[in-house]
Amino acid sequence: MLGLALLLAACTPAEPPQAGLDETAQSRPPIVFPDTWRFSADDAPVTAERAMVVSTDIYASELGARIMQEGGNAVDAAIAVSFALAVVKPNAGNIGGGGFMVVRMADGTTAALDYREKAPLEATRDMFLDDRGELTGKSMLGHLAVGVPGSVMGLWEAHRRFGTLPWADLVEPAAELADGFEVHEGFRRDIANKESDLRLYETTAATFLPGGRIVDIGETFAQPELAATLRRIRDRGADGFYRGETADLIVAEMERGQGLISHRDLEAYTAAWRDPIEFTYRGFTVLSMPPSSSGGTTMAEMANMVETYDLAEMPWHSTQMIHLLAESWRRSYADRNAYLADSDFIDVPLERLTAKAYAVARAADITDRATPSADVGPGLEPPREGDHTTHLSIVDASGNAVAVTTTLNLSFGSKVTVAGAGFLLNNEMDDFTAKPGTPNFFGLVQGEDNGVEPGKRMLSAMTPTIVSRPDGTLFFVTGSPGGGRIITTVFQTIVNVVDYGMNVAQAVNAPRVHHQHLPDQIMYERGALTPTVLAELEARGHVMVERVEDGGLSGNVQAIMVMPDGTLQAASDPRGRGAAIGW
Ligand code: DON
Repeated sequence: MLGLALLLAACTPAEPPQAGLDETAQSRPPIVFPDTWRFSADDAPVTAERAMVVSTDIYASELGARIMQEGGNAVDAAIAVSFALAVVKPNAGNIGGGGFMVVRMADGTTAALDYREKAPLEATRDMFLDDRGELTGKSMLGHLAVGVPGSVMGLWEAHRRFGTLPWADLVEPAAELADGFEVHEGFRRDIANKESDLRLYETTAATFLPGGRIVDIGETFAQPELAATLRRIRDRGADGFYRGETADLIVAEMERGQGLISHRDLEAYTAAWRDPIEFTYRGFTVLSMPPSSSGGTTMAEMANMVETYDLAEMPWHSTQMIHLLAESWRRSYADRNAYLADSDFIDVPLERLTAKAYAVARAADITDRATPSADVGPGLEPPREGDHTTHLSIVDASGNAVAVTTTLNLSFGSKVTVAGAGFLLNNEMDDFTAKPGTPNFFGLVQGEDNGVEPGKRMLSAMTPTIVSRPDGTLFFVTGSPGGGRIITTVFQTIVNVVDYGMNVAQAVNAPRVHHQHLPDQIMYERGALTPTVLAELEARGHVMVERVEDGGLSGNVQAIMVMPDGTLQAASDPRGRGAAIGW
């Protein structure tokens, strides 16, 4: 058990919120959330002088802070935190899934690492359709839903390029957590929320419901098989997962459940360094994830459209503001769903989609009325033929910044635990277009280019993002889960700090809205909009749908703001149970 109290004591609650954008913020009216909204605009960010970790679990954040105190950099901390989340946040943290890392080093080096899962080599385009061509549901549950995991290779590759502490020192703390940690409310709740799903597979039930019951707060939860797996990874690096005993156990699990992943798949898996998507938004530089995530590209397109309007002149969460956001999102997601896919397989028109001039043309038909999505096709000519992810943001004492979003896709992924190895496998195959024209779990109606092909990565919406100020200094690190809602969630945090001068806690606490082209509706968190704004948006022709899932909430942002004097402020989304820890 780690020395929590010590590090928690090192976090000082901030003075009343200060805005991120200093001078301009002084003249702004204070941010007021609707009376109906459950979180406060007055929460103080967590502050720290030198380094900060914000993740979805306190043990993981605490470990990351300790790694940096011991001399590790932000990438070292991100690796340790990622492994720890696989133990203490098993519905999303993982070694059996995949993710993305965006890095901005203090020396100006930037990088994006794609460790998204790949379709197994035996996968076929119609593998999720039955004889009548109907969807079977097997892209979501069980062994066929599993993509070849990328997380261990990604973390290994990140360490190879940027790591400074020994690999073993970053993996062993997670193994120690797997030896046993004290259950807290967040962990108990994650298990309780999915108890019936966790009973679907015997090994999963045995792992997460020991003795057939939900572990109580204060009890020690041990995962000995996972601890052994992590120690193989500690000792052999990526080979401790992709070859040898762990690989044998994965392949045996696949054979047991008629899954497709073979030794060949595991041995062939590679993570890929890619050029980050880089764009400016009102002079700020935004670095985010390129394909196989749609996040950075789609966010660039919406930002370019919104930038042509003076958003700050529109009161925050006014009818005009929400209407403009929704119309830009509708158009950006129409393009996302049509053009974006794994760029190793498909020629994705990234430059055209992210060009400022394209956004101006794309926004030209935005009026005061909602444009029906049926009238909004993909924008490029000629048209082509046919909760549960986890984010962590880290800034170290040298000013290196890392944003990681990683996932098993749905909560606890495919629900399949590798027998003998103690970890869950993803159900990322559902992010492919299983059947063109039909929505996936997140309601995204995606295109042919994102169809299943052997070795291809399924399109993601994960958007780990790092923003710097017009003068080039590091400003903001952000990201979230939420499936298709991730891109708009991340963009709203940027709009909140850049256009509305919110501090990081306000930007994270603020209510959220979403539009993804199809279904043609604005989703809003419960209580997010005043009755007047709702009525006015309806009068403009928008279909307004209050979110019911997840208690009416959407996303789980973990964000850090670097203040002009270099101190750090952070907020872990009150929608979740994460923690910001710094020193
Ligand atoms: O990569 C994606 O876009 C999805 N697999 C993310 C899933 C997710 O965020 C689930 N959490 N709510």
